Amino acid sequence: MISRQSIDAVINAAAIDEVVGDYIALKKRGANLLGRCPFHDEKSPSFTVSPAKGIYKCFGCGKAGNSVSFLMEHDHLSFTDAIRRLALKYQIVIEEDNAQTSDEYNEQQKVRDSLLVALEFAKNYFKTQLKTEEGLVAGENYFRERGYTQQTIEEFELGYSPQGWESLVNEATKNQFNLDYFVNAGLIKKNEERGTYFDMFRQRVIFPIHDLTGKVIAFGGRQLVKDDKSPKYLNSPETEVYHKSNVLYGIYQSKKGIKALNNCFLVEGYTDVITLHQAGVKNVVASSGTSLTEGQIKLIKRFTENVTVLYDGDSAGIKASLRGIDLLLAQGLNVRTVSFPEGEDPDSYCKQLGAEAFTLFLKEKSRDFILFKIELLLTGLENDPIRKTEVVKNLMQSISVIPDALKRAAYARECSKLVDMDEKLLLSEINKIRRKNGEGNMPSHFDEEIKDLLQTNLPEPKVYEAGEEQELELVRLLIQNGNEKFTDEATVADFIFKELQEDEALKISNVLYDRIINEVKQHIEENLSFDEHFFTNHMDGDIRNLAADVLSDVDKYELSPFWLAGGKVIPTQKENYIRNLQSVFLFLKLSKVNRLIKNNLEEFAKASHADEIEHCQAYNIQLITVRNAIAGIMGTSYNVL
Ligand code: CTP
Ligand code: MN
Repeated sequence: MISRQSIDAVINAAAIDEVVGDYIALKKRGANLLGRCPFHDEKSPSFTVSPAKGIYKCFGCGKAGNSVSFLMEHDHLSFTDAIRRLALKYQIVIEEDNAQTSDEYNEQQKVRDSLLVALEFAKNYFKTQLKTEEGLVAGENYFRERGYTQQTIEEFELGYSPQGWESLVNEATKNQFNLDYFVNAGLIKKNEERGTYFDMFRQRVIFPIHDLTGKVIAFGGRQLVKDDKSPKYLNSPETEVYHKSNVLYGIYQSKKGIKALNNCFLVEGYTDVITLHQAGVKNVVASSGTSLTEGQIKLIKRFTENVTVLYDGDSAGIKASLRGIDLLLAQGLNVRTVSFPEGEDPDSYCKQLGAEAFTLFLKEKSRDFILFKIELLLTGLENDPIRKTEVVKNLMQSISVIPDALKRAAYARECSKLVDMDEKLLLSEINKIRRKNGEGNMPSHFDEEIKDLLQTNLPEPKVYEAGEEQELELVRLLIQNGNEKFTDEATVADFIFKELQEDEALKISNVLYDRIINEVKQHIEENLSFDEHFFTNHMDGDIRNLAADVLSDVDKYELSPFWLAGGKVIPTQKENYIRNLQSVFLFLKLSKVNRLIKNNLEEFAKASHADEIEHCQAYNIQLITVRNAIAGIMGTSYNVL
C-alpha cells in the first residue's frame, strides 16, 4: 500500500508538461502547450497542456485529466502503477506500508476521508455564509475594510461563520451528515450531558488552512467584535489531517512563487500572507503565530533554500524571530531579514506604502540575517567591552549552528571586521560551541581540526575512494538502526547524513550504497518516516536483496576486532552501534588522509623546485599529524589500510 503522503508528494512533483512531453512533441502556445493527441488520430494538433493548472485536454476527442490519469490512460496502468512510475521519474521515495493490514489502512483512510469531507463541507458553508445578509454586513464588509478584493477572497476561500450557536450543526444535519465527523474535525462540540451539539466558530471571519495540494485541513477564525473572554483567533485543534507543526499558512497559494523566485518570505499571520499576495508578493507563508518548527522548515526546504524573515517592527517581534532563526540556520537555509518601522507589520506597512513601493522596500531593505543581528545587538555597546563580549558569544552561537563549514568561516570573517576581533579567535569559539553542543564525544570535531589543517593553502582532492567495506557498514547501520536514537536530538540516520553532508569528500563510491543513502535522505527530508520495510519492500530488487542480506545476518554479525579498539569490551547493544558508527566515520576519514598522504608523496617524488619540495614536506607533516590524531582516537595504528 502506498502511503497518502507519498501519493501527495508524487502528484505535487509530477509536472504535466514533462510527463506528456515524454510521449508527444509539444509546442508552446501562449501559456499552454499544444501537440497531437495520442488518444485519437488527428492531423492538426488540438491536444492542449496547461502547466499552470497541471492538466491536459484534447479539444478533438475530449479526453482530459492530470499527469496520473494521462499515464493510466496512455499506458493502461492502474492508479498505483501510475504513481509508482511517476515516483521513479521524479526520484521520489515511495513509502510502502505493509506492516499495516489493509483493514487498518482502510480504517485510517476512512477517518481521514471523513475529516476531509466535513472540512470541505464546512469551508463551502462558510463561503456561502459570506454572501448572506448577515455575512455581507459583518464578514464581507470586514474583508473590504481590510482592502481585500473579491479575487483575493476567492483565492484564499475566505468565509464567515454566523452568530447563532447551531448554524453549522443545522446545515450538516440537514445534509444528513454524521455530526461526529464534525466533532472530530473540531468544528462542532458535543454537550455530553444533554446530548446536544453546538458550533465552535461563531460570528467570526474564516481563514481556511490548505495543505500543499489545496485540500482544506483546518480553519482559523478571527473575532469581529473584541471580546476578552474569547481569543482573537480561534484555530482548529490537531487532527489526523492537521498537524500544526508541519503546516504553513499560504503554502498552497505560494509554492509556485517560492519555487520560481527561489526565495520564501516568512511572516507571522494570516493577514500578512493575504495582503502581500494581493500586492503581488506571491512567495509568502506564515508560521501562524507560533515559533517555527523543524517540520515547517523542512516544508520550505522542498521549494527553496532561501528564506527572508519579515516580522513585526516592535522589539518583541524581533527578539522572538531571533530565536526561530537559529533553527533556520541549523537546517542549512540562507536567511535574510527585513526590519519594519516600529509598530508596523508586513500587512499594515504594505497597505501604507502601496504594492509597488512595498516590493521595492522589500528588495532594498533585505539584509543578511547574521550581519543584521550583529548590528542590532552591537548598537550602543562600543564602550562596553563586557556586554560586547556577551553579544559576540551570542552571535557565535548563531553561527555555530550553520552546517556548512565554509559558510561558518565566511561569517566569522565578516563578523571579525564588524566587532573588531581576531578571526581565528572567533572561529575557535565557534568550534568550541559546536563541540559543547552534543558533538563533544563524536568524531565531528576532528572534522573541524582536520579541515582547519587541510585548508591552509593546500590543495584538496575532490573525491577519494573509501573502502567499500566501511560504506557497507554505513548502509548496514542505516538499515538496521537508522531510526534509533543516537543522541537526544538525532537519530542514527540524522547523524550519518550530517557527517556525510559536512564533508563533501566523504563521497560514497559504491553506486548501490550511494543510491540507498540518498533515497533515505530524501525520504527524511520529506518528513516521512522509514523502517526496515522501506528497504525490504523496495521496488528496486538490488536494494531489496541487500536489505534482506543485512537484516538476515543481524544475529551472526559481529563487530570486527578493529572496532573493539583499545581492548575495551562494549556492554550494551546501543553503545555498541554508536561506537561502531563513530568508528566507521573515523575509518573513512583515516582512509581519506592516507590517500592525501599517498598523493602528496607522489608529488614530492616528482618535485624539482625548492619551494615545491618545501611545500610537500610541510604538507606531509600536517597530514601525518592529522592521521596520528585520528589513529589516536581509534586506538590503532594508522597503517592498517
Ligand atoms: N494568532 C493565533 N491566535 C491568537 C492570536 C494570533 O493563532 N489568539 C496567530 C494568527 O495566525 C495570526 C498571527 O498569530 O494571524 C498573528 O497575530 P496578530 O498579529 O495578533 O494578528 P494579525 O493576523 O496581524 O491580525 P490583525 O491584523 O487583524 O490584528
Ligand atoms: Mn496585523
